[in-house]
Amino acid sequence: GSLTAVRGRLLWFGDDPFLTCPSKAVHYYEDGLLVCEDGKITYAGPYESARNAVPPRATFVHYPNHIIMPGFVDTHTHYTQTGMIASYGEELIEWLEKYAYPEEMKFRKKEYADKVANLFCDELLRNGTTSALVMCATYPQSVDALFEASNRRGMRLAAGKVLMDRNAPKELLDESVEEAKRQTEKLIDKWHGNGRSVYAVIPRFAISCTSEMLYAASELWKSRRGLLMHTHVSENPDEIAKVRCLFPDADGYLDVYKRHGLLGKGAIFAHGVHLTLKELATCHKKQSALAHCPTANLFLGSGLFSLRDAKRRARPVEVGLGTDVGAGTSFSVLALMNEAYKIAALKDYPVDAVRLFYLATLGGARTLRMHKKIGKLEPGYEADFIVLDPEATPVLANRTRKSEGRIEELLFALATLGDDRAVEATYVAGRLVHNRDKKKSGPRQN
Ligand code: GUN
Ligand code: FE
Repeated sequence: GSLTAVRGRLLWFGDDPFLTCPSKAVHYYEDGLLVCEDGKITYAGPYESARNAVPPRATFVHYPNHIIMPGFVDTHTHYTQTGMIASYGEELIEWLEKYAYPEEMKFRKKEYADKVANLFCDELLRNGTTSALVMCATYPQSVDALFEASNRRGMRLAAGKVLMDRNAPKELLDESVEEAKRQTEKLIDKWHGNGRSVYAVIPRFAISCTSEMLYAASELWKSRRGLLMHTHVSENPDEIAKVRCLFPDADGYLDVYKRHGLLGKGAIFAHGVHLTLKELATCHKKQSALAHCPTANLFLGSGLFSLRDAKRRARPVEVGLGTDVGAGTSFSVLALMNEAYKIAALKDYPVDAVRLFYLATLGGARTLRMHKKIGKLEPGYEADFIVLDPEATPVLANRTRKSEGRIEELLFALATLGDDRAVEATYVAGRLVHNRDKKKSGPRQN
């Protein structure tokens, strides 16, 4: 089988640094070695003690001073909105009607969907994102296009068709709840567990779903093991008010989902900007996770998510980071860390780099219930990892030199100044799938 070995600064998280002290959560080897065989990690530890154990037939690459860590996990995004990213001037509801829905209608054409799906997957890998939870359009062929593209690249992606049967243009709506169920069941049969793909049942949000559709979503979610449930919640004040009108009996937005059996392990709610402490406690109790989408929340003027409230030690909620393209303005998870830091700073909560990188890797993996397979560099884990270059730009290089190898300072510089340029290489299942400098010299062999 294939054998890959890489040498550099190895970093991953064994535990949640919001809940334990960082020294317990962080695994770090200044001069480390990572060995993968047939897509799985077989060794991760000090280089010195294992250098002789690397078989001569292994592809060996030394990345001096680079940081080798688990691939980023994007816990909420829309591949169908790649083409209308950077659309000006509206808040959520108007932005959906004016920009997002018209773009999503184009995904009825498989050809268009294929083109965007390939661009999207390449862009994930170029940014060091090896796994993501992705909303597709209403049309089943938009799901086929994405999973075909991600399977071709060997990626572990979770995705599904969006369910919506009201309050959107007719061409985009499901014909009926029954037809939406049939289509979803077919997609689950086709894609759930096909390659590394995971199917996610996606009632788009309470505004676009009737009560009947929400019940159907719950039923579909529970129909097979390992399915995810993904939706939006409490993103924008006008949205929340509208949900109150549509579901007057419910005790708030999250309760709409709760009443329809949509809370539980494997449920991931995007945004949650305006959730109350009581609602956050419900998320904790129901083991439901949140996707924090900093760039999208700023871009649509939705509000400031409180990481401190979500990660309260008494009732912590699992949180991952989401690019939420096309409301989000970047595919880069490093850019998300940068904005997440600033949002937290506005709330007097200077979240440190260890916590930010945790959210982007193991935190994301936990959010997507993939933490036994990805998110760590430990033997048995799937070999999805990235190589970050702390000297990717002149300013970053200058700042890195000043940090004199202090890893937390280096990580904070990468989180603040980094983007796709800092991703030197991306490996999926032990295979090099993105190599930044390939046009120059290719990976340095030993
Ligand atoms: N709520 C419902 N649909 C969407 C969407 O496409 N993007 C965002 N940001 N919020 C939503
Ligand atoms: Fe979204």
